[in-house]
Amino acid sequence: MLTSGSPEQRYKTIQAIGNACLKWGFFEVINHGVPNTLRDEMMRASESFFDLSDEQKREYAGKKLFDPIRWGTSFNVNVDKTLFWRDYLKIHVHPQFNAPQNPLGFSETIQEYCKRVRELANELLKGIMESLGLEESYIQKAMDLETDSHQLLVVNLYPPCPQPEVVMGLPPHSDHGLLTILMQNDHVGLHVRHDGKWIPVNPPPGSFVVNIGDHMEILSNGKYKSVLHRAVVNGKATRISVATAHGPPLDTVVGPAQDLLDNENRPPLYRGIKYREYLQLQQSNQLNGKSCLDHVKVNINDTCCK
Ligand code: OGA
Ligand code: NI
Repeated sequence: MLTSGSPEQRYKTIQAIGNACLKWGFFEVINHGVPNTLRDEMMRASESFFDLSDEQKREYAGKKLFDPIRWGTSFNVNVDKTLFWRDYLKIHVHPQFNAPQNPLGFSETIQEYCKRVRELANELLKGIMESLGLEESYIQKAMDLETDSHQLLVVNLYPPCPQPEVVMGLPPHSDHGLLTILMQNDHVGLHVRHDGKWIPVNPPPGSFVVNIGDHMEILSNGKYKSVLHRAVVNGKATRISVATAHGPPLDTVVGPAQDLLDNENRPPLYRGIKYREYLQLQQSNQLNGKSCLDHVKVNINDTCCK
């Protein structure tokens, strides 16, 4: 309905997206155009990657944040006080494409999957811009998004845990980018914070879960808030989730959209920051709620006194 419906259907869908962004910061997408066969292939290929021997995987045990491929455990073992029950594979896939050589065919699958999901992200971003009352291609123009947007692929593996109630897969956090698009296998584990409670997310088969990241909160000047979420583990089955984080180009300074501001009633609530710096900040500290956003919040009292 967003891309192929009548103008009226598109309008209604944009309103629904706007409502979801306001109230939840999360929504589910169906009929998204990414073929099920490709989704299944991506899931299978991810499993095969984690099934490689540790020796083979160690080749990708990148140390630095901007290493193109990083395989690891927990969130940031250099600073995590408690380790999380999670292994990950993180790959910078756009604008430069990277992929592990193994398993065979993984690279082609990642490339196609990430391209299709990026197309979906671009359509959703246009809808979200319109829901904010901005021109639909606002973000694409302001940030050269079509060519240079940054896309990070994060594959999460949560093995079954003998004592799931005392561990966490991923602690409460918000995501750094503009949007995250998540696919998961059959096992529920994602919880979203809403009205002071943790709500388990159990999306319909074949759908994607989409959430607002910190950079959309900044860009929308706080209208659409990034929302806390966490991943819990279970005692029986391995859970895999494939997240793609869609952000602005790494060297773009993102601040609140000028068109949403006015000096008297709507001052900027966040200062501009380069996405690269923000990523550095978030990924080199402990994952701790939405604390990273505090670094870019403007103290309202400061602006009032000027
Ligand atoms: C993430 C994330 C949730 C999940 O990768 O940022 O929140 O369900 N993942 O794995
Ligand atoms: Ni997340």
